[in-house]
Amino acid sequence: MIILGIESSCDETAIALVADGEKILSSEVASQEDIHALYGGVVPELASRQHLEVIVPIFQLCLRKAGIAISGINAVAATTAPGLSGSLIVGDNFGRAVALALEIPFLPVNHIEAHLAANFFPRLPDFPALGLVVSGGHSSLFLVSGPNDFQVLGETRDDAAGETFDKIARVLSLPYPGGPPLEKLAATAESAIRFPLPGVKNSYDFSFSGLKTAVIYYLKENPEADRAAVAAGFQNSVAEGLVRKLDYACNRHKVRSILTGGGVLANNFLRSKLKIWAETKGVELRIPSISFSLDNAVMVAVRAFYLL
Ligand code: KG4
Ligand code: ZN
Repeated sequence: MIILGIESSCDETAIALVADGEKILSSEVASQEDIHALYGGVVPELASRQHLEVIVPIFQLCLRKAGIAISGINAVAATTAPGLSGSLIVGDNFGRAVALALEIPFLPVNHIEAHLAANFFPRLPDFPALGLVVSGGHSSLFLVSGPNDFQVLGETRDDAAGETFDKIARVLSLPYPGGPPLEKLAATAESAIRFPLPGVKNSYDFSFSGLKTAVIYYLKENPEADRAAVAAGFQNSVAEGLVRKLDYACNRHKVRSILTGGGVLANNFLRSKLKIWAETKGVELRIPSISFSLDNAVMVAVRAFYLL
């Protein structure tokens, strides 16, 4: 069962060919970071035009690298929600066209569920599991009872974790996307400022706006502040808040594993904090490799494999 996965929900055009939900035949990601960096954030109109520009050549490259003919594809899956509508429609339309021409099934895939499906290969985790997705657009906590059973426990009430990284990076005069440069700056810190945590007390929900405002006010009141100490303090708060939320959920649901995903999981400080917590808690933790934590199309194909 070879599935063509397509991802175009934001500023990455990604295509993958995956066999039997576990064997990656090819996977390509074309990032538009350079285009949007000029504007300090994703410009939706530019994003959709760029997806349209590159989607066919990337698909052809994937076929070549996988060494298969187009007729070797058995099903097509594309991210259809959530995301930027003009961007989503490019991958969605392209996928439906391929499926129509080849007379094979087309499967619409939810982007957040796909991030969790990045934990489903090379083998499925033990269920039930808790799933944490922290990306540029979302911060959600799930109870995952099986490969097709996702129940939202909590969500952010305001900004997403990645969006907050991007905003704080901007006030620290770092380029877009802000996560990677902010992580680098924080790694040079000799101390860290203490900021509030982003979790809502006694709830599965997150709230990042209080933390964001606290950092912005701190910088306004202390214009000479050590920027690295601010970055480290902010990163500490996000990591500590996410760990505490998982701990809170873990104490209330008997789960056998923890699944994670989304661009913020590319943060090495957060990855190590989660690993330390899971070890002391004695629960299996899955963190996709950095390239599969960020937006990719393998996770879309894997999600579709279980839907099929
Ligand atoms: O999942 P993703 O690639 O796209 C969305 O679905 O949104 O996540 C992108 C987000 C951006 O906000 C970016 O700043 C953040 O992930 N990010 C990071 C790091 N790398 C990417 N945040 C913190 N530390 C990083 N190393
Ligand atoms: Zn994503």
